[in-house]
Amino acid sequence: MSEVVWGLGTSHVPSIGAAIDRGLDADPRWEPLFEGYRPARQWLAERTPDVAILVYNDHANGVDLDIVPTFAIGAAERYQVADEGFGRRPVPDIEGDPDLSFHLLQSLVDDGFDMTVFSELDVDHGFTVPLSVWTPEPGESWPCRVIPILVNVIRYPQPTAARCYALGKALGRAIASYDGAKTVGVLGTGGMSHQLAGARAGFVNPAFDRMFLDAIENDPEKLAALSREDYIREAGSEGIELIMWLIMRGALNERIRKVHSAYHVPASNTAAGLALFDNRPADRADQTS
Ligand code: DHB
Ligand code: FE
Repeated sequence: MSEVVWGLGTSHVPSIGAAIDRGLDADPRWEPLFEGYRPARQWLAERTPDVAILVYNDHANGVDLDIVPTFAIGAAERYQVADEGFGRRPVPDIEGDPDLSFHLLQSLVDDGFDMTVFSELDVDHGFTVPLSVWTPEPGESWPCRVIPILVNVIRYPQPTAARCYALGKALGRAIASYDGAKTVGVLGTGGMSHQLAGARAGFVNPAFDRMFLDAIENDPEKLAALSREDYIREAGSEGIELIMWLIMRGALNERIRKVHSAYHVPASNTAAGLALFDNRPADRADQTS
């Protein structure tokens, strides 16, 4: 038996990673965003799980745009940081957990989710920025092993929010049936509202984002019922990345406790959000291990 101990939803805006790499935390333009992260980082630093599962999307950096699986899982020993055109971020490579990857793969396939498998994968800002939001100064290595789950949000048609939520529930069952790890953190990443190109470039929708931050905790079914067109209309063409938070939420219990949330506009041209949830029952929620 393994247990999901926490879930973290966070944006992956590349300029947040660049600001961390350049030590701009105290810069007046960035300080309000990083101030919002502080309580979550402190809580997480005391609750490092045995392994984390990070649900993210590649942006045609590690995966060829000609072949984009709808859902995929990494099964490698290590994942290199992708070079997105201006050199690799100065952060450690990621240590994977192939045993758990193969367990999740088998369990998800048996549960009706025919995942593509990556035995080799370079991970881009969609992966490394959430790791930096969690752990800004990793030193030589990240706090624990991490397994990537990839979701297509960049080519049409993206999976529905309902399908993502169902995948999260199957992921929760798969984790629970694994004997090799004890504690697991799950990250759902991307968003919040943003659109990078076209007539609505720069679009953000704080009313939708705030609704989403509340509903991801209290009413995920409402978010799962939205169509991909709803996400694109309300959150922008890249705001549909938010469907990945529903995979994280589906892996958690019905009732969870919000530890901290933060919302800041803008980071780059993007609305940045964070939501951290304790998944343990109330009688154990204050324990650090
Ligand atoms: C930007 C890129 C992203 O992939 C994203 O999700 C948000 C913002 C950007 O370049 O600003
Ligand atoms: Fe993105």
